[in-house]
Amino acid sequence: MIKAVIFDLDGVIVSTDELHYLAWKYISDQEHIEFSKTINHRLRGVSRMASLEIILEKANKTYSNEEKEALAEKKNNYYIELLSSLTPKDILPNVLEVLGKLKDKGIKIAIGSSSKNAKAILKQIKLTDIFDEIADGNDIKKSKPAPDVFLIAAKKLGLNPKHCAVVEDAIVGIEAAKAAQMTAIAVFDAKKSELADYRFDDIRDILRLV
Ligand code: BG6
Ligand code: MG
Repeated sequence: MIKAVIFDLDGVIVSTDELHYLAWKYISDQEHIEFSKTINHRLRGVSRMASLEIILEKANKTYSNEEKEALAEKKNNYYIELLSSLTPKDILPNVLEVLGKLKDKGIKIAIGSSSKNAKAILKQIKLTDIFDEIADGNDIKKSKPAPDVFLIAAKKLGLNPKHCAVVEDAIVGIEAAKAAQMTAIAVFDAKKSELADYRFDDIRDILRLV
C-alpha cells in the first residue's frame, strides 16, 4: 500500500538538464576538456562531485582535490546564476495536477533529490510549501544509486520505506529506489531501467496506483 510518493526534483518536477549542461560546458571549455550532451546524460541523478569525476575522465591532466573543489564551486556559482531564470512556467506538464490530487487522496508527497540546490530550485518555481518533506543533497554523503536520500525522506515522513513510491527520471535513481525497497516508478530516461516497477509516459498514471 502506497502512503507517500517521493519525487526526484531535477527532470521529474522541473527540467534543469540544460542548465547543468551549460554550467559544466563552461567549466570544461575553460579546462579544454571534451564535453557533450551524451556525457551530460550520465550526470543525471549523480552528485556534483561524482559528476565532476565523470567529466574529468576526458581530461589530459590529473587534478588535485583542491582543484576539483574549486572547479565544482565555479560550476555551481554559474549554475546558480542560471537558476535565476527558472519560473513556475518551467514546472513539467501535469506535475501540479498530480501533486494536488495525491494530496486530496491523503497521500504524503516529498522530494528526494541529490541536489544541494533543491530548496533554491523549489523557491524559484514556487513549490516550496506543497511538499510534506524534503530530502536533498545536503542530507546525504552517498548519492544515488545509494538509497540514502530516499530512506531519509521516508524517515522524515515517519513511514516504512515499503509504503513509499519513488518517481525518477534517472536510471541510478531507480536503482536507489529499489535498494531502499520502495516502489520504483520510471519516467523519461529511467524507463530504460530493467529494475523499474512501472514505466509511465504520463506522470498522471501515478494516480492509478493510489
Ligand atoms: C541531481 C541532478 O538532481 O542533482 C544531477 O540530476 C546533479 O545532474 C545533482 O549533478 C547535484 O546537483 P547540485 O545542484 O547539488 O550540483
Ligand atoms: Mg532526476
